[in-house]
Amino acid sequence: MQGLYEQIQEAVAAIQGKWSGKPAVGMILGTGLGGLVEQIRQEATIPYQEIPHFPHSTAPGHAGRLVCGELAGVSIVAMEGRFHYYEGYSLQQVTFPVRVMQALGVKTLLVTNAAGGINPQFELADIVVLEDHINLMPDNPLRGVNDDRLGPRWPDLCEPYQKSLVAAAQRAAVELGFQAHKGVFVAVPGPNLETRAEYRMLKAMGADVVGMSTVPEVLVAIHAGLKVVGFSVVTDLCLPDCLEPVEVPKILENAAKGGAKLARLIPKVLAAIS
Ligand code: HPA
Repeated sequence: MQGLYEQIQEAVAAIQGKWSGKPAVGMILGTGLGGLVEQIRQEATIPYQEIPHFPHSTAPGHAGRLVCGELAGVSIVAMEGRFHYYEGYSLQQVTFPVRVMQALGVKTLLVTNAAGGINPQFELADIVVLEDHINLMPDNPLRGVNDDRLGPRWPDLCEPYQKSLVAAAQRAAVELGFQAHKGVFVAVPGPNLETRAEYRMLKAMGADVVGMSTVPEVLVAIHAGLKVVGFSVVTDLCLPDCLEPVEVPKILENAAKGGAKLARLIPKVLAAIS
C-alpha cells in the first residue's frame, strides 16, 4: 500500500503539472468564507477531483477547488472549501491538503472558520484572531506510526498561533476601522450544534469560539513546521441563557458579513508575513 509520504508527492506532482508557482502561504477558507478568492490574482484553479488523494467537499458553502495565484504580492494556494470530520473523513484525509501545501513550499498556514461565539462580548459577524485552542475532537490526525520525514513524534504546542501575526492582525483591523478580538477556539466533532449545558462547559473551560474544524489542520501544520495564523468569524451566539435555534442561512449570512471584513484584513496580514 502507498504511504502518506508517497501520496503527498503524487498530489504535489499533479498540482505542479498545472501551476509552476512557489507558494509561501497556504490558506484554508471556511464555511461561507470563500469570497476572498475573488481578490486573488488567479494563475490556476484546480478542482479537488483533479488532485490525487484529495477528498471531495460535501458541506454547504464549500466550492472544492484549490486556487493558486497571488494576493497582496504573496504567492499563495487557497483551499476554497475544506473537509470536516463530521462529513465522515478521517482526520488524515481532512489534513491531507496541509501536507500537500507544505510540500509545495508553503511556510505559513492561514486558516479561517465560521464559529459560534461563546464569549458574551462577541457579536455576530465579529472577527476573532485565534491565540490558542482546545481540542475536543475524538481523534488526532497525528495518531499512528510517525513518519519522521513529515515531522516529529511529539510536536510542541506552546505557541501554535504565531504571536507576532496575532498582533499584526489586530493592528491591521484597527487600521481598517474595526476591532478584531483575540480568543481561544475549541474544536468539537459536530455535526450537531451544542446543548446549553455544553456551551456552559465550553465557556468554563476557557473557550471564546467554538467550531467543527481548524484544530486538525493546525496540528498537522505545526507537525510539518509551519507557522499558523487563524481567524474565526462569529456566525451565531452561543449564550446558554438566551439560546435561539441556529438557522444555516443565518450562519451563512453572518459568515458573508464577517468574510467581507476578513477579505480586507487578510491582505494586510499577508503583507506582515512576507
Ligand atoms: N458550534 C459548533 N460549530 C459551529 C457553531 C457552533 O455554535 N457555529 C458555527 N460553527
